[in-house]
Amino acid sequence: MTTSSLPIDFDAIPPSALPDLMRRMPKAELHLHIEGSLEPELIFELARRNGVALPYPSVEALRAAYAFHDLQSFLDIYYAGASVLLQEQDFFDMTWAYLERAAADGVVRAELFFDPQTHTARGVGMGTVIRGLSGALEKGRRELGLSADLILCFLRHLSETEAFATLEEALPYREHFIGVGLDSSELGHPPEKFVRVFARCRDLGLRIVAHAGEEGPADYIHQALDMLKVERIDHGVRCLEDPALVQRLARERTPLTVCPFSNVKLKVFPDLAHHNLPALLKAGLAATINSDDPAYFGGYLLQNFVDTFQALPELGPREAWLLARHSLEGSFAPETDKARWLKDLDAVFNR
Ligand code: ADE
Ligand code: ZN
Repeated sequence: MTTSSLPIDFDAIPPSALPDLMRRMPKAELHLHIEGSLEPELIFELARRNGVALPYPSVEALRAAYAFHDLQSFLDIYYAGASVLLQEQDFFDMTWAYLERAAADGVVRAELFFDPQTHTARGVGMGTVIRGLSGALEKGRRELGLSADLILCFLRHLSETEAFATLEEALPYREHFIGVGLDSSELGHPPEKFVRVFARCRDLGLRIVAHAGEEGPADYIHQALDMLKVERIDHGVRCLEDPALVQRLARERTPLTVCPFSNVKLKVFPDLAHHNLPALLKAGLAATINSDDPAYFGGYLLQNFVDTFQALPELGPREAWLLARHSLEGSFAPETDKARWLKDLDAVFNR
């Protein structure tokens, strides 16, 4: 476990102070699919604006369909929701709505995943997508003081050849994204399927992450580390099935971007009280809390913190501080920014 440079008296902090502390503590969100922040109200507004017919009569009916039994049942509705995104302004509006919520939750750094293939397959231009997203990030830096960057994700249910084509299409916009990730249906699509395209991405100087060990086995985490050479593991909760892997992740300080609400909604754990986050921290892992797809899973980052801590009595002020610290340390922000946020974090707990 990392220790603070200042002696924080965690025992003096009453549990009742935690929700406010968790809002005020500077933190990074490292696992957020921007298409998963599309609220039903905005889906309906964009559908109307763009003349897209939706298979649901109302916002309430759409929200009522958000009952998932696994990752695939979620992805089917998530990709359908994204079908209303057509114009640059749509991507801008979606991203701006997320950034406002993130800033209100005390997020100082956000690294947003986007799925270009979900849009280019429908005839939306790569430039339309990236200009809309990065325009909102620029406004967020300016008006909210929120540091944010984009990570382009390849859809793993598609082929590596398609991933290469997507990368080529995105390269004219290289300065608008800092890294690449791997998402969508995990089972049956191991990291090894994408070893060549990730090698090319590393050569291009892109930061590397991948979803692994969400529904897939611990071996997919090994593959992501050894074959894709990831710097963070997205989810990774199944690592506990492999003690040698846990030791390695702890030794190498590999951040795990854990998403409690997501894990419950997609039935990785039966409820928050059975989540393995306390065990991950106890094993010395650099776990973080994230919202994944907040519009679909019941809440944004702060709500993930508050409800998870409420459900798990092993988690207290020390763990809140540690999770925030891991998120800042594990981010791809400039080191000077990280050092400043880490100091601010200690100041929040020392007050
Ligand atoms: N795309 C959006 N959310 C995802 C998740 N939790 N896992 C894999 N792909 C995703
Ligand atoms: Zn995810």
